[in-house]
Amino acid sequence: MHSATPSSPHRIVLGVAGGIAAYKAVDLLRRLRALDFHVAPVLTPDATRFVGAVTFSALGSEPARTSLYGDALTPIPHTYLAQNCDLIVVAPATAHLIARYAHGLADDLLCATLLATRAPVLLCPAMHTEMWEQASVQENLATLRRRGVLVLGPVTGSLAGGDEGAGRMVEPGEIAACVEAVLRGHRGPLSGRHVVVSAGGTREAIDPVRVIANRSSGRQGYAIATVAARLGARVTLVTTVERPLALDVAHAVDVVRVESAEELLVAMTTHQAGADAVIMAAAVADFRVVASEHKIKRAQGVPTLQLEPTPDILAALVGARSPGQVVVGFAAETSNVEAHARAKLATKDVDLLVVNDVGAPHVGFEHETNEVMILGRDGEAERVSLRSKEGVAEVILARVASLLTQGAP
Ligand code: CTP
Repeated sequence: MHSATPSSPHRIVLGVAGGIAAYKAVDLLRRLRALDFHVAPVLTPDATRFVGAVTFSALGSEPARTSLYGDALTPIPHTYLAQNCDLIVVAPATAHLIARYAHGLADDLLCATLLATRAPVLLCPAMHTEMWEQASVQENLATLRRRGVLVLGPVTGSLAGGDEGAGRMVEPGEIAACVEAVLRGHRGPLSGRHVVVSAGGTREAIDPVRVIANRSSGRQGYAIATVAARLGARVTLVTTVERPLALDVAHAVDVVRVESAEELLVAMTTHQAGADAVIMAAAVADFRVVASEHKIKRAQGVPTLQLEPTPDILAALVGARSPGQVVVGFAAETSNVEAHARAKLATKDVDLLVVNDVGAPHVGFEHETNEVMILGRDGEAERVSLRSKEGVAEVILARVASLLTQGAP
């Protein structure tokens, strides 16, 4: 992938598919050029029925391309474009384009370039509400999101033909701002660091259809992942729940889905290697059921569930930590909070213990806000008053960043 330097700006492929919002791509191209990005326009054959390639050639950093088959200067345009860009933006992304991309088709230059690139991709969908709400469109987008593709919009507003509803492309100014955030980000106290975070509550099978779960929503773990990425870290988020990530950070967060404590253990210990900080925000079941291979039938009467312990993941992480790696544990308590937390601090050998009184109002599970106490190795307590979970994440990560600069044990 191309890498920008002060003398060579970030390179963007601007893909334009065949929808009426294609006319707004001209404005987007002007805005991206005004931000000093190098922009190579690529139009699908259908896009050229809405807007002229000449317009994009006149405003772009390179002539607009419309064909898979190159010329003497660029004989294989899709690999040239795919290998020489830092980001591909598709605006508008039509239902047809999204379907072709999700299924790996390469029947025009834009789809072939999307298939051939390792650069991040930002799609800005635009279509009529009925199309936007089709299960096929939503499933194709879910597939692409799962593969790390960024999706911006659409919004609700006026559509072609005088209709109103969801499906309108996000305005060019907002797309340009998003591109800038993705490509330029900002260097923060965690730049160059790799942070591994767990989120959500584990689900343990009782039989093939039933589980034992807990009330964790994953919000605090997602907030830590989001703030860590904003502070410049590369983040691996190991999670039992799927939540939307803010667009400006999604490119820096690698999401790994797990369900049970066993799967969480495997994912965390795998990603721990080489990480600078490991943060165990997930609510892990302490016991799992010795699961039945087949569905337990009602006619069999009230079952007796036999429990067995799950692995202590935090203990495994502490045992395998590399020199200088910061390990953060959480403690969920409902009574004698400080005493229980101090007892945990004494046994768990973590650098920081983030203590939640999950019985208190507006705190912990399922809430948007949190209030915690952070215990350091020396036993000193930092009280973080009630605030958003991102606000709490900021305090935790400031402590992590400071431990990393001091050089943790
Ligand atoms: N944890 C873990 N593996 C488990 C249980 C918990 O890694 N099997 C982690 C949690 O993610 C958290 C920390 O250990 O970071 C403490 O979890 P908590 O449930 O508060 O404490 P426990 O040690 O399980 O003690 P208790 O449930 O008795 O309070």
